[in-house]
Amino acid sequence: MSTSTYDSIVIGGGPGGYTCAIRLGQLGQKTVCIEKEEVGGVCLNWGCVPSKALISMAHTYEKVKHGASIGLHADGLRLDVGEMQLWKDGIVKKQTGAVRSLLKSNRAELLYGNARVVAPDKVQVTKRDGQTETLLATKGIVIATGSSTIEIPGFKFDSKQIIGAREAVSLREIPRRLLVIGGGVIGLELGGVYQRFGSDLTVIEATSSLLPGVDSDCTAVVQKRLIKDGAKIQTNATAKGCERNSDGSISVFVETKNAESVTTQTYVADVVLVAVGMRPNGVGLGLEECGVKVERGFVPTDAFGRTNVPSIFAIGDVSGGPMLAHKAMKEGEVVAEVLAGLKMAKDWVGIPAAIFTEPEIATVGLTEAQAKEKGLSVVVGKFPFSALGRALAANATDGFFKVVAQEKTHEVLGIHIVGSSASDLINEGALAVEMHAFLEDIGLTIHAHPTFAEGLMEASMRALGHAIHVVNR
Ligand code: NAI
Repeated sequence: MSTSTYDSIVIGGGPGGYTCAIRLGQLGQKTVCIEKEEVGGVCLNWGCVPSKALISMAHTYEKVKHGASIGLHADGLRLDVGEMQLWKDGIVKKQTGAVRSLLKSNRAELLYGNARVVAPDKVQVTKRDGQTETLLATKGIVIATGSSTIEIPGFKFDSKQIIGAREAVSLREIPRRLLVIGGGVIGLELGGVYQRFGSDLTVIEATSSLLPGVDSDCTAVVQKRLIKDGAKIQTNATAKGCERNSDGSISVFVETKNAESVTTQTYVADVVLVAVGMRPNGVGLGLEECGVKVERGFVPTDAFGRTNVPSIFAIGDVSGGPMLAHKAMKEGEVVAEVLAGLKMAKDWVGIPAAIFTEPEIATVGLTEAQAKEKGLSVVVGKFPFSALGRALAANATDGFFKVVAQEKTHEVLGIHIVGSSASDLINEGALAVEMHAFLEDIGLTIHAHPTFAEGLMEASMRALGHAIHVVNR
């Protein structure tokens, strides 16, 4: 058994881990990144990136399919699922290859194997060839082990008909009837993909609304669209179990609660996608044995990403929510700089979130409801996509921009967009929230015409009472 010494050891090669290792390499730190599956983690291999490939295909397919109203006739339109999957797999391969080469060119070593922390400065790795190696970290160990799909009782994954998101991005056939358990981000993104490809979609959601925590006006637009396209949505409902039928289908038993009664309904589906959240991967790494606090799988940290054991850090999903790749990447950069002795800490104001439903939702900062719960007096400006020339020209008029600001100071507290390209548009909002911008900062900035982004300028001006392309009431 050999021992190698590094400045820092990063466990996990997902967006948080690989970013941290690259930044450490840039800062001249001797670094190794240990990964047990493939670099890129959930995000690149079966999460963000592959799902966006399918979403973009579904979007194109739908646009062409319904193109007749704008004079686009595509008779004989046909989706080849196998070819689509090959294309998607190619994107994943290209991106994981790029990450490997970025690690290499920044002189961060990549080691494939299963890592376990055996002391506050030591990691033991069981490599792919079965050999064990002990690594010593003179500056710190970074836990970037991410999170795993939650399974629920009564729905044991079989990789074909009862599946999680990992399998759902690799289906070789479009299910005739798809039932999604969990009306959260994954459920609606992937459920929406297969609905656009022709599946009959049913969504079972335990709480009283889809996408809990997201601005309810935004969610309403997406829910309306799902229903318009034929989806059945059952809220306040819990999937209790299922039974396989002789024709190969699955009967799913769903309990629905309201103030007066509890009823059980049966839904028949060909594929059941379980998307009820992710569980942080903080257990089984030897952390607790080394004195690191682990709470329900999460590894709590301070503003520097440090756990209660000074030489051990945690970033990304395993260190707490929101479970978003971009939050993990930023934490990776912060921790790398802390380890390299630079003055750095996590002190961001807002973390944007983008949900790739139809239409997209993107948010940053406080919702109107959250601001009011905090006792803040707010002013709200809304502007519809339908009033934008660019949205009309793109045949994408669903949705709106909503800016929430302090009534007295006009400081922007939150921005919520539902509509085409919301995932890109939100980044101007993120900058505004981060810089404590005022409504006037956005409203008086000249926005290029004709663009979707003009909607954010107009919504800010509407909050001030003088938007141009809408009546200010
Ligand atoms: P989620 O937390 O977004 O949604 C899970 C939903 O399932 C919730 O609405 C919850 O109320 C519901 N639920 C829980 N137990 C249930 C039950 N037994 N029956 C019915 N409903 C039940 O989790 P999801 O969609 O699995 O996503 C996991 C994580 O991945 C999230 O943290 C999300 O932010 C992240 N993600 C982010 C994406 C993005 O940024 N675009 C894309 C995909 C995932």
